[in-house]
Order: sequence, then C-alpha cells, then structure tokens
Amino acid sequence: MSQRIRKAVFPVAGLGTRFLPATKTVPKEMLPVVDKPLIQYAVDEAIEAGCDTLVFVTNRYKHSVADYFDKAYELEQKLEKAGKSELLAVIRDVLPRHVRAVFVTQAEALGLGHAVLCAQPVVGDEPFAVLLPDDLIWNKGPGALRQMADLAEKESASVIAVQDVPREQTGSYGIVATRDFSGRHGEITAIVEKPRPEVAPSNLAVVGRYVLSGRIFELLKHTRPGAGGEIQLTDGIAALMAEERVLAYRFQGRRFDCGSRIGLVEATIEFALDHEDLAEPAREYMRAALAR
Ligand code: G1P
Repeated sequence: MSQRIRKAVFPVAGLGTRFLPATKTVPKEMLPVVDKPLIQYAVDEAIEAGCDTLVFVTNRYKHSVADYFDKAYELEQKLEKAGKSELLAVIRDVLPRHVRAVFVTQAEALGLGHAVLCAQPVVGDEPFAVLLPDDLIWNKGPGALRQMADLAEKESASVIAVQDVPREQTGSYGIVATRDFSGRHGEITAIVEKPRPEVAPSNLAVVGRYVLSGRIFELLKHTRPGAGGEIQLTDGIAALMAEERVLAYRFQGRRFDCGSRIGLVEATIEFALDHEDLAEPAREYMRAALAR
C-alpha cells in the first residue's frame, strides 16, 4: 500500500452519554471548542493530510452533522447582502470545494470495527484514514494525520497513532506492544483492546488516528465481538498484523481527550489562549478567577 490516502472515515454514531444532557439533542461531535465543533477540527486535519472524500458513519439521530456540512443558502444570502464577507468565508470554508462528504448509516451500534466496516462501499480496497473526532490533536506544524500519511506512504504500511499513558489507564485504550522502535515509529507486534493494567503489554495507547490498508475490511467482516461485546477495530488490526506490517507512530502534537468533560475543558482553555482575539481577555479572566 504505497498509495497516498484520499479517503477519511469519521465514525460519529456514538451516543455521547458522558455529555448528557447536552447530547440529548446535540451529537458530541458538534460540541464546540471555542467557535468550531469538534468534527470540524478532525475534518480540517484530514483535508490537510490530502483527503478529498470524507465518509461520515452516522445514525438516524445525527442529522445535525449532515446539516452542518450542507450548504446554508439562506444564511449565505443574508451575509452576502449584509456585506459580511469574512463570516461568509468562514461558513463556506467548512468544506472546501474540492472535498466531498458522503454519509453512510450504521443501523446498529455494534462497535467501532463495525462502524468502519460500514464505510467499505465508499472506500473500496484502497488505504484510508480513520479519525475519531473525540481525540482533538493540536500541532503547530503538520497535523497528526499528515505526519502519519507521509509515513504510511514511505513505508508502505498501515500506521496507528500512539501515545504513552499512565499504566492505570490502560483499560481505557487499545494498547500495543512494539519492536524496533526508531525515532517516532516501530512495528506493532501485539494490540489489545482495553486491557487491565496487570495484563497490558505496555503503556503505549492507541489514539484516534489510523491509516489502514483496505484489506482490513475483509478481516472486519470476520471479526467476532470482543471487549465490551462490540466488534472492535483493534481486533481487526490484530488480524491485519498477521498479513501486513502495521506501525505505531508517536505523533508530534498534543492530544485532548474531548470524549471526557475535563478534556473538553482543557481544549477550550488551550485554544482560547492561542486564539488571536481571545488570548488576552481569556488570560486576564483566568488570572482573576484563580485569584478568587
Ligand atoms: C477507541 C478504540 C481504542 C482507542 C480509543 C482512542 O475507544 O477502541 O482502541 O484507544 O478509541 O481514543 P473508545 O474511546 O471509543 O472507547
């Protein structure tokens, strides 16, 4: 698979129960960090990596994700009439012209592996990316997926983003064992979904960015329910490793776990402090709040 990836899959059919009651009507991917919904950060990262086809795996309650990427005729007309060209550009940039969005439905929530498999009719058998929008990755230089796509192309291999986590947290992640780590990457020799700390092969955790060989789809079709009774992407990757090289990659950048409330708060603070209009007032407010 020495091809450059063109297609990116966004599994967005989850329930987002950690953010109830907000997620009663707003999908968690639509929760904002400062002024953009989480999904937009992931979409921007995929486009920067070279993807031009975005596949959203949704469920019947997630109309707002499709609405968000649709053209907003009335709003555009109003902004145009009012001469608000900057805002017009902001809403048009949600999806650049050369990029197309495709929506597929995951009728039953059978797990992340199953969600990815739902994208097969659009992706076919070429290498592709998977991005979990809960994991917001921030980097001043090239985005995490761009770094991974470059490596995947150069090494003709699948690439999975990893990060060290405290051992007591292994039960929240896919955990990998690796060999021949050089620089930022090494070959994965084992991958396990959410192992208890006592049995985890390491404390190197999978983060929500994957560049995968199209071969994974056939393997996912035969993957039985695993951890939590769900069809796990991790188990599909374990099967892929028996046939092809899969690399772990320690990306450059900082990851915010926006699937948790504290992660979303941290991301909001960090992005506000980096925002050209908000940095100063945000800093002032935080100083005052901490002094109280
Ligand atoms: C999923 C994957 C897990 C990975 C994690 C990264 O788990 O199954 O392997 O480490 O994303 O965020 P989830 O957080 O959806 O339970």
